[in-house]
Amino acid sequence: MKTIKIKIPATTANFGSGFDVLGAALKLYNEIEVAYEFTNSRVHELKIEIIGEGKDTLPKNEKNVVLQAMKTVFRICKTVPPAYKLRLINHIPLSRGIGSSASARLGGIVAANELCRKKLSEDEIIQIVSKLEGHPDNVVPSYFGGLCICNFDGNNVKYTKVKMPFDLKAVLCIPDFELSTDKARNILPKTIPHKDAVFNSSRVALFMSAIIQKKYELLSIAMEDKLHQPYRKKLIPGMDDVFNSAKKSGVYGVCISGSGPSILAISNENSAVKIGMAMQKAFFGHRITSKYIICDFDNNGIQISK
Ligand code: HSE
Repeated sequence: MKTIKIKIPATTANFGSGFDVLGAALKLYNEIEVAYEFTNSRVHELKIEIIGEGKDTLPKNEKNVVLQAMKTVFRICKTVPPAYKLRLINHIPLSRGIGSSASARLGGIVAANELCRKKLSEDEIIQIVSKLEGHPDNVVPSYFGGLCICNFDGNNVKYTKVKMPFDLKAVLCIPDFELSTDKARNILPKTIPHKDAVFNSSRVALFMSAIIQKKYELLSIAMEDKLHQPYRKKLIPGMDDVFNSAKKSGVYGVCISGSGPSILAISNENSAVKIGMAMQKAFFGHRITSKYIICDFDNNGIQISK
């Protein structure tokens, strides 16, 4: 049997003001191992092993998202796949706003594309997964790494990437409850005041220049938001206190990671532990247990090895 290994980064989307537009990759990965062999038999027993996050809850049958993504590629490429079995090693917590679902779909598509001798181009992969997933702000950085800017009309995505500075840390406080993206989107209003749109567009532009020019003192304002966080805070008990605890501990900027419930703080290396502990304590003040992790940003994206 031959093996393909895919390592797919977690992602944090939005950065507050960049709702549905910005996302960056993190040095936290799910892994997919595909063991395969070409045989004459057309009947293959399905075998999926899951290790780590979701090992007892994720489906190991036809409903598995990685498997479904792979089958999409075989269909598009009109390719009969070899016999294969999957081993999914999940380090990205599920339904916490750090891109676990995008990583599963993207990993499945990339793995299957390897089995199809790379028939799909990079751009085709991005377009297919963005449509399947609906959130290119997770998909694009997971593939390319770095900080990605995405423009999605529901059908086609345009994107660019800049590198995240190596001296920034992502401190993620991950509460012990799940929040589905659907639920976190259904709570958003259908329309917003014009001044709120201006509030956000000025900040997302400021965010990009603050990152590129390393003017980190601007991040606290650049990450402010009026499009989604004020509505989503109803779903994240203690969110304001968690934000304030991070602000008092020397954070550059703080926001909901993706659609939540995790909170992302951006800091320098020296303040990261203090910020993580302060956020954890603030959640606990609302009877929410949580853990915090300190991650570097990933500038390389998905990794494939054989
Ligand atoms: N931008 C999306 C949202 C990300 O906030 O709903 C979903 O992971």
